[in-house]
Amino acid sequence: MFEWKREYETGIEIIDSQHKELFKIANRSYKLLKNDMVTDKYDRVVEIINELLDYCEYHFSTEEKFLIDIKYNKFISHKSQHEEFIKKLRSSNLNDIDDNQDEYLMDILNFFIKWISGHILSKDMDYVRFNNSIK
Ligand SMILES: [Fe+2]
Repeated sequence: MFEWKREYETGIEIIDSQHKELFKIANRSYKLLKNDMVTDKYDRVVEIINELLDYCEYHFSTEEKFLIDIKYNKFISHKSQHEEFIKKLRSSNLNDIDDNQDEYLMDILNFFIKWISGHILSKDMDYVRFNNSIK
């Protein structure tokens, strides 16, 4: 399971609730993947991972609107980080896996959570500081 930590909190309600939702969706996928009682689970796992990516894009657009609102001075580089991440994830062909499905899907989930938590702690916290400084 991917653990949500208090240090991920930005103090901005909508951002925090969307970040938490990303963890929730990733954990749904994780649990299903780890459940040996379920057969033929891969289509469902892929479906949830796609849902995760859709929600992530939705979250990025919310965040980018917020950054425009506060006139964030590093908006362009922040947005390009989002774009690169989505591009990378979208390029992994989830439906075209035969060997080591478990491992492949788990790698994607791990990559997702590692990137998003690192991004929150460094890049997102940077706009939080910016936002607090202009208040
Ligand atoms: Fe971000």
